[in-house]
Amino acid sequence: MAIKTVGVLGCGLMGAGVAQVSAAAGFRTIVLEVNEDVLKKGLGRIEKFLTDGVAKGKVTEEVKATTLGNLSGTTTYADLKDCDLVIEAIVENVDVKKQAYAQVESVVGPACLIASNTSSLCVTELAASTKRPDKFGGLHFFNPVPLMKLVEVIKALSTSQETFDALFGFAQAIGKEPITAPDRGGFIVNRLLVPYLLDAIRCLEEGLGTVEDIDKGMKLGCGYPMGPFTLLDFVGLDTTYFIANILFDEFRETRFAPPPLLKRMVLAGYLGKKSGRGFYKY
Ligand code: 3HC
Repeated sequence: MAIKTVGVLGCGLMGAGVAQVSAAAGFRTIVLEVNEDVLKKGLGRIEKFLTDGVAKGKVTEEVKATTLGNLSGTTTYADLKDCDLVIEAIVENVDVKKQAYAQVESVVGPACLIASNTSSLCVTELAASTKRPDKFGGLHFFNPVPLMKLVEVIKALSTSQETFDALFGFAQAIGKEPITAPDRGGFIVNRLLVPYLLDAIRCLEEGLGTVEDIDKGMKLGCGYPMGPFTLLDFVGLDTTYFIANILFDEFRETRFAPPPLLKRMVLAGYLGKKSGRGFYKY
């Protein structure tokens, strides 16, 4: 199963990163967005990352040029017709995802694989909504995609071994370190990370320490690159709230239940870095 051409649905934070690493690894990559404005913004994000990389001496001009040369953007599903793999990185809404898969399947060939970058939805359910549940799996990337080495490769109940192997191989081919994760809420990383982040909020609610001290404690005491509140702001409080609710629904364990403060911050629009205010102000 040779993958040469890759389609990416969505050029937001995650989609842009996925498209960038795919193009950088030499795959012809076509990224799809809903309209020209959003597409332009997403492609601009990729170009900026590469330009910053050149300025930092981490990316050569040559790699930047090859990456951009392998990459194209579109707003038309028909342009994905030659794809061997389509990676979906759109909004975490089952119905919207299902509609996108139907559009993909109306243009791609029967051998094309589809993978979702969902962080928490049931991959088996997503797979079952397509006409190719055996050719569907999960490829869960981490933010910021070009810098984080990990990809969780998720085998849905229906994913064939051949598809799983192809997705695992693709993750390796783009320079990532894949791990095998089961189709269970949160897979491996979010299953462990989300309760930790929720617990940090509970600690704050209980007055265990300030935001700054708790962050400093975990950063300097454990060598984590970011303290929990910096990470919460980075991931997005709405995203964390969404994942926590899905995990709670799946396992019915209190450690996954979103604390009241998180819910209220989301309702207030304090979503973290992206909204200019979360546990910190930006
Ligand atoms: N191009 C190439 N390289 C770049 C770059 C660019 N544009 N920008 C930065 N880099 C390189 C830097 O040169 C540096 O390289 P070095 O380690 O060899 O010196 C490295 O990337 C780190 O960059 P910075 O020094 O600028 O920044 P930090 O050291 O502060 O690291 C970070 C930034 C990588 C984001 C780090 O803080 C980190 O790892 N944070 C945790 C992130 C995390 O946990 N992500 C997962 C979130 S959960 C998730 O995504 C799952 C979802 O489902 C919710």
